[in-house]
Amino acid sequence: MAAIGARARALIKRTALAAGRVAPEPVVGAAHKLSGWLEIGRWLRDECAGRPRRMATREKLFDLIGAEVAQARTLYLEFGVFQGDSMRYWSRLLKHPAARLHGFDSFEGLPERWSPDHARGHFSTGGALPEIGDPRAEFFKGWFEQTLPDYAAPAHDALVVNLDADLYGSTRFVLGRIAPLIRVGAWLYFDEFSDPHHEFRAFREFVAESGMKFAAVAESRNFWNVAFRRVA
Ligand SMILES: C[S@@+](CC[C@H](N)C(=O)[O-])C[C@H]1O[C@@H](n2cnc3c(N)ncnc32)[C@H](O)[C@@H]1O
Repeated sequence: MAAIGARARALIKRTALAAGRVAPEPVVGAAHKLSGWLEIGRWLRDECAGRPRRMATREKLFDLIGAEVAQARTLYLEFGVFQGDSMRYWSRLLKHPAARLHGFDSFEGLPERWSPDHARGHFSTGGALPEIGDPRAEFFKGWFEQTLPDYAAPAHDALVVNLDADLYGSTRFVLGRIAPLIRVGAWLYFDEFSDPHHEFRAFREFVAESGMKFAAVAESRNFWNVAFRRVA
């Protein structure tokens, strides 16, 4: 706003205030989201190398990463498993017999409200673990805050992390905890990146604190799903 004079700024402010008095709630909500997306776009420009490839679906995005790691001894970590759809997909993608798929979830749903449609407890399976049918897959049941401190990662040559816990607090905790595993070349995938208050916020803070550099590798068409690779 520095380039805009004080009078123009006051005019914009008054116009927005007047519009806020009459605009229906969805319009105000959309304007709020718009400012969040502007923030994400600016951050990507300033902090991330690369021009992400746009993929039609998250499965196509998984395939893109899978093409790089399928034949390697890959450790696939998933935070937020629910009924196991993405775990099952990755189990088919990874071909190396010594690849490992480790899924972390309370299986009691979200520990707090995420959005109006996702209350605390949403995504609960009642404690039931999904059936993956892959001996390389293992589940760590409980809150991340309880299961991660004792977790010892097995030896691996490539790392893919699927961050799908939706919430800021959960994602922030995981990133801080697994930081030593995120070496150059590691892949990080976020399932709900376009919500500026949650996964994006957690990643932005993590990048600022860790000093790690990432390239944005791919994004889905609706921009919910974004994959990064550590480059430095
Ligand atoms: C969107 S679902 C995962 C969906 C799954 N990846 C898929 O695509 O099929 C989010 C999951 O994150 C889990 N979750 C969120 N925060 C958690 C935490 N702090 N500890 C354990 N599980 C958590 C919830 O239990 C929920 O099952």
